Amino acid sequence: MSETSISKFETIESAFGAAAGTYDSARRRLVPCFDDFYGTALRFATLDLPEAPHVLDLGAGTGLFSALVAAVRPRAHLTLVDSAEPMLAEATRALSARGVAHEVRHQDLAEPLPHGPYDAVISALAIHHLGDDGKRDLYRRVLGVLAPGGVFVNAEQVAGPTPRLDELYDRWWEDDARARGSGDAELAAARARMAFDRPATAADQVGWLCEAGFTDPACPYAHLRFAVLVGWSPS
Ligand SMILES: C[S@@+](CC[C@H](N)C(=O)[O-])C[C@H]1O[C@@H](n2cnc3c(N)ncnc32)[C@H](O)[C@@H]1O
Repeated sequence: MSETSISKFETIESAFGAAAGTYDSARRRLVPCFDDFYGTALRFATLDLPEAPHVLDLGAGTGLFSALVAAVRPRAHLTLVDSAEPMLAEATRALSARGVAHEVRHQDLAEPLPHGPYDAVISALAIHHLGDDGKRDLYRRVLGVLAPGGVFVNAEQVAGPTPRLDELYDRWWEDDARARGSGDAELAAARARMAFDRPATAADQVGWLCEAGFTDPACPYAHLRFAVLVGWSPS
């Protein structure tokens, strides 16, 4: 399917399934703060990580965040969870080409997580597709599969703290994406996927990490609608 033929999708799986082939090439345009955002997430994800860690990537898509972790920890074993099979197929192709040990799980984030224990649970731009109750429930389940002292890093699209700021963040996101070369077709396709977005504020999510029992829950990075949320399993 070409980007121009996309106007509306029935499900989130079909929306991301259609995007799988062009997803990676559009990332730096559609995530204007790409380097700082993923860079900060990677810094936390690999802090104190053993040489051959077990890492779970939630809503892994084409494996972008997983591949960044594998570049820092080449002996990592990665488990990638996603509900869109074409995205996971891209991830398998990319990670296999680099010789990265990994397995994929085609499942919804609402279903039970692989048991672990994991040294790190990572996620990027995926959990905002769940409703708020789903996010809170997932945060509790993430803690259940983390090894003691393990880290959870959620590099996320968040809601603005007020409706006015949310509207401003949305407008500036489009301005910044256009400034980086996104055209009408790419933005229309992104907006079609964004019809499934249910973002929560960073402040609410730090509260839910605290409520779930994470140690040092925090939002160490935020640029407009892009935020990194972190917390640790008690040692
Ligand atoms: C914007 S992509 C992000 C992919 C990757 N983490 C990255 O940073 O590029 C969001 C991914 O989350 C997946 N996703 C969204 N909701 C999901 C759910 N409820 N269960 C499993 N995967 C989901 C989509 O299929 C998609 O691959």
